[in-house]
Amino acid sequence: MPPLDKNSVVGIIGAGAMGTGIAQVAATAGHRVILFDSNADTANRAIESISGGLNRQVAKNKISADDARAITDRLSVANTAAAEGDYSVLAECGIVIEAIVEDLETKRHLFADVESAVHADCILATNTSSLSVTAIARGGRNAQRVIGIHFFNPAPVLPLVEIVPGVATSDTVTRDVRALVDSWGKMTVLASDTPGFIVNRVARPFYGEAIRIYEERIADPATIDWAMRELGGFRMGPFELMDFIGHDVNFATTSSVYEGTFFDPRYKPSVTQQRLVQAGLLGRKTGRGFYDYSEGATKPEPLKDNSLGQQILTRIRAMLINEAADAVAFGIGSVDDVDLAMTKGVNYPRGLLAWADEIGIKEVLGTLEQLQSDYAEDRYRPSLLLKRMAREGKKFHQ
Ligand code: NAI
Repeated sequence: MPPLDKNSVVGIIGAGAMGTGIAQVAATAGHRVILFDSNADTANRAIESISGGLNRQVAKNKISADDARAITDRLSVANTAAAEGDYSVLAECGIVIEAIVEDLETKRHLFADVESAVHADCILATNTSSLSVTAIARGGRNAQRVIGIHFFNPAPVLPLVEIVPGVATSDTVTRDVRALVDSWGKMTVLASDTPGFIVNRVARPFYGEAIRIYEERIADPATIDWAMRELGGFRMGPFELMDFIGHDVNFATTSSVYEGTFFDPRYKPSVTQQRLVQAGLLGRKTGRGFYDYSEGATKPEPLKDNSLGQQILTRIRAMLINEAADAVAFGIGSVDDVDLAMTKGVNYPRGLLAWADEIGIKEVLGTLEQLQSDYAEDRYRPSLLLKRMAREGKKFHQ
């Protein structure tokens, strides 16, 4: 099989939110794309939705009608085979990307079935956001060609993609896949196959520490959101963002990182969020989460106290920087990749490590040491890397 390039056929299995977005990205980059879903109607609807989106772009003069048609023409649906689990239609693919339900056993079975239907050199990728790529790869016989390609939602809009080799993934596959996704106009970072990869791990304190501050009655959600937005420069505050993401999704991600790290207290989920999930108050999508979104509801006013706001920002930011430093210390990502991941994947206003350099690593360390001393909890333990760097007077970005 020829090396991966624009002529490689891309197979996408699972035509939900992510599969549809990834299909659009690949077709826009010039690939022929075969969409596969256990529900053939879903795959057909995916193409209709991509085509509808492209037509809206044509109407706004963002792309030409010819380009939109060419992109749609490159998309096809593997209709009949889907229900029977016959993947022979993917035989010509250079790469197959899986975006089905987030369930290890289902994904493993899928990889075993797909492997026997595709060419021996076809790369098998998973878009999982919380499962181990290594564990999924065990579904097939050749784990060397299995890799994680973690897009963010919506895939056509968000530039970041985490490339996640499993333990057995070959270096050639990693290099080729990264080059391919780069050629799709995405910004790739290399993340090790650890719980939450880079973004979903490093971002945990944005939610967890904000809830903790609220639980301690230091400030209410509106005030914490105000501090992170207005003083920190984050696009959304933690509570409005959790309400937007959905508490079911956010709680599941936190729980999965917590369990995946063998219950590291830094990632401990909160009872407050669990109660919202139990109550069905999932955020915007159910009309209520931390905030009320029903007709006529008024948004609570923040207490715009600068000193309180700075205290909140300093604490949450120190915890985020601690995560980012630990991600580097444990080889989860490089300094540049960790900073890029957080600015391009979740729109942070600054790279966390660049921010640490600016504030001063000693200063950040001081905040963490104070928290650890006050609470005597392992949750606040400073990263060894921060301690070493503070001692040696080093910066992350020289
Ligand atoms: P979704 O529920 O929108 O779509 C999943 C699709 O897969 C459905 O159309 C379903 O019919 C199909 N499907 C299920 N089992 C199948 C099988 N055995 N064979 C073929 N098709 C099957 O899910 P979504 O949100 O698109 O997520 C897909 C994957 O991407 C999951 O692994 C998820 O964790 C991951 N992901 C999701 C993100 C998000 O924000 N939604 C972000 C990044 C990754």
